[in-house]
Amino acid sequence: MREKLIIGNWKMNGSDAANAELVQGLVAEITDIEGVRIAICPPFPYLAQVRGLIAGTMIRLGAQNLSDRAEGAFTGEVGAAMLADLGCTFALVGHSERRSLYGESDAVVADKFAAALQAGLTPVLCVGETGDERREGTTHGVIARQLQAVVDKVGVSKIAKGVIAYEPVWAIGTGETASPDQAQEVHQALRQLLAAQDHSVADAVQLLYGGSVRADNAAELFAQPDIDGGLIGGASLSAATFASICRSA
Ligand code: PGA
Repeated sequence: MREKLIIGNWKMNGSDAANAELVQGLVAEITDIEGVRIAICPPFPYLAQVRGLIAGTMIRLGAQNLSDRAEGAFTGEVGAAMLADLGCTFALVGHSERRSLYGESDAVVADKFAAALQAGLTPVLCVGETGDERREGTTHGVIARQLQAVVDKVGVSKIAKGVIAYEPVWAIGTGETASPDQAQEVHQALRQLLAAQDHSVADAVQLLYGGSVRADNAAELFAQPDIDGGLIGGASLSAATFASICRSA
């Protein structure tokens, strides 16, 4: 039985004061929750602050991105070892906003996945098709390409040391959620792609769904056999809503 995992992705939102209120609210809200892992990914400058706020709680820390390089003359980059040093457990890799707005290729995403593993972080590989790609019927080809680039880089056995998040681009921040059937169908395809290369990895790896998850649609999504939790954007900025999503897992 795979454990459920809920990760909040704050994106470029927050401030010293707002973070304190959000995390204190969340800590108070989740005291009754058991049997689900919870993590939040604040922007880099607030990792240390949030690390302090979640100390002693069940909430784990994650980063939204990391460098594909280990250390050195890479101005403006943040390395995996630094994130581990700051108490991060997770690092998002290849979020669609990184791919589309900042030009991250499959190869760079694969290097970032490897860099996270190297530092002992759990990379959360984001994959997903655009609305056009879905209409053209290429969804499976797109996610297969995005996943295989990472498998080719690190080897299939390392995939279960990470997490995969299926995030259809057309559902991110749009309010348009994939239906539980649509999401399950792609999650199953991801697991089959891995099973063709290694059955035990396919069984073990946690697959999250992301894209307009809300308190009122989370339970139905998380009830699907191949959906092991969620990657939550907008709804993770409200303590009550995020806690309610965690509860439904
Ligand atoms: P959303 O974002 O929940 O606001 O749609 C999800 C994500 O981008 O991870």
